[in-house]
Amino acid sequence: MSQPRHRSVLRGVFVTTMALLVAHAYAKPAADALAPAGRWEGKTDGSASTPPMGWNSWNAFRTEVDEDKVMGAARVLVDSGLAKLGYTQVNLDDGWWLKRRTSDGRLQIRTGIFPSAATGGPDGTSFRPFTDKLHAMGLKAGIYTDIGRNACSQAYDLHSPNLPQGTTAEREVGLDGHVTQDINLYFKEWGFDYIKIDACGLADFVPGSELVKKQDYRAMAPLIERGSINRTDIGAVRARYEAVAAALKAARPANDYVLSICAWGMANVRTWGKDVGNLWRTSADITPSWTSMLHNFDSAAKRPLYAGPGHWNDPDILHIGHGDFDAAHPVEVRSHFSLWAMINAPMLVSYDLRNGPASFLAVLGNADVVRLNQDKAGHQGVVTYDSDDAQIIVKTLGDGQRKAVALFNRGASPAPVTLLARHLKLSDSAPVTLRDLWSKQSATFTGEKAFTLAPHETLVFEATGKRQLENGVYLSEIPGSINVAVDGTRQAQPDPTIHRMIDPWSNTRSGGSRPQYAGWGGAQADTTPFGQTLQVAGQAFDSGIGIMANSRLQVKNDAGHALLTASVGVDDSTENTKQPVRFHVYGDGKLLAESPPVAFGTKAHWLRADIRGVKIIELVVRGAASDGAPPVVATWGDVQLVRAAGR
Ligand code: GLA
Repeated sequence: MSQPRHRSVLRGVFVTTMALLVAHAYAKPAADALAPAGRWEGKTDGSASTPPMGWNSWNAFRTEVDEDKVMGAARVLVDSGLAKLGYTQVNLDDGWWLKRRTSDGRLQIRTGIFPSAATGGPDGTSFRPFTDKLHAMGLKAGIYTDIGRNACSQAYDLHSPNLPQGTTAEREVGLDGHVTQDINLYFKEWGFDYIKIDACGLADFVPGSELVKKQDYRAMAPLIERGSINRTDIGAVRARYEAVAAALKAARPANDYVLSICAWGMANVRTWGKDVGNLWRTSADITPSWTSMLHNFDSAAKRPLYAGPGHWNDPDILHIGHGDFDAAHPVEVRSHFSLWAMINAPMLVSYDLRNGPASFLAVLGNADVVRLNQDKAGHQGVVTYDSDDAQIIVKTLGDGQRKAVALFNRGASPAPVTLLARHLKLSDSAPVTLRDLWSKQSATFTGEKAFTLAPHETLVFEATGKRQLENGVYLSEIPGSINVAVDGTRQAQPDPTIHRMIDPWSNTRSGGSRPQYAGWGGAQADTTPFGQTLQVAGQAFDSGIGIMANSRLQVKNDAGHALLTASVGVDDSTENTKQPVRFHVYGDGKLLAESPPVAFGTKAHWLRADIRGVKIIELVVRGAASDGAPPVVATWGDVQLVRAAGR
């Protein structure tokens, strides 16, 4: 979705169609949503226990994709050894379709560009020979569609030679009205393993718009208005993706599929994506510019509690190979790759692999960095130090004995960055060993170590040392073991746009990407929901979880810890200083500990719960849910799991 003109043209039309839209305010959670479930409610459907890796056709070829180009990419993945490292996914994007056959609604493939699909017979065309070839190479096959009637290229790539053709109905190639039919076709008949589902069909085919009139499309009152969360029908968008998830589950009961939601971070997908799909885009399309990479990174980097094995924040495909990430920019290429690895983003490259330089293959082939991304525990890196120019991101590996840390210079001048042992939640007084995953050099320090980062440079280390919690783990160190069941937000907020950029579809014709409210209220590791330091009645906490009241977190106790402790209270940053809240800890559905009512200004209350033998811990904050007042900000200060009871 990247054309300048539509957005401004469509804006006026939105006003007239507003009556058709249902502004979606988040209702307060039903009382029973806070009741402990006693079982893991995080979704386990689909097959993405680690972030998907491989290749996607879009940024390399847009709609000018063809079979030779795709098979060429597949061959390089295998011949270079990248497939062995995990790059097994080969994903077709927009541009493969010819039309939807009117007699029976069956989709037809553009065989001019996919010759092996010309199988003839009553079906006309089939991708089965294509997916068979990929499977025989040890690879997996991905397909692309749209959740509405029409695809993004039909709005934004009108010059393309490969747009669907025929009557209005024949050009309706998206899932709307055909969910079961198309999903069965893709997954049962054609043998695909992965599907990316775009959402332009819900956003861009606006009644009365020039696009609809000129192209003779069937209009659809938009369910998504780009840039306006209040004018987006969040529930309706989610319901459509849920219907697809159900069809997929039925088509592939063995659970061997991946569902990628491509709603560009809109419709509050940051909250519900994990309950519906295996990955969900968190932002607009990446462009090959440094600032776009920063923007997309930011859109996913502050959401570690929403990702974990089976479900991943998706800041979009890696733009390695183009623009600011071409062969003349090795520092930027390594940074882009390292950052995506640290936040458990999908590692899907999208350049013409047949013609790329060996230097890119060396970057993609850095097995140490790939290993971070693919670590089975699935803990997304947490931004531990944050400024405009420099960031420190720390990712727990496995159960916490090892950490990865990235030091990132966002700016264009050299940046001094001092890494403290406590950024890593390691002891200040014991040696810390750092192994540089690019240079492979090791170094040791105690307390702190100073670095100077070149412009745009990212250093990535694996770090070992004496843990601050020798006998346990802070919950903020293991976001992949946490499911935010209810986040306590009442009204979906616009996204915090920390790094602002020229958005790819409107450039200077729009009002620009204006500064937005600096937080959306979702649960956070080591900060409040709005990014401040956790603090209760003047006592600050380096570690903890910040969340709104009327929320419920689930935590897997896979490591068999025996005790949970936390210092809990109303955070000093709360806008609502009037209402008291209570904190409760449950183990497998049973109440284990609770605080008295605590209010703004009440000293942190120490909670202790015996969790021996407990599989699922649930942390619930209850408060008055009066609609007039903003939710109370609650802090689970220093919340931790330790091995032996009786501290
Ligand atoms: C949208 C998506 C992109 C790509 C194009 C295809 O813009 O966000 O990733 O799939 O559509 O038209």
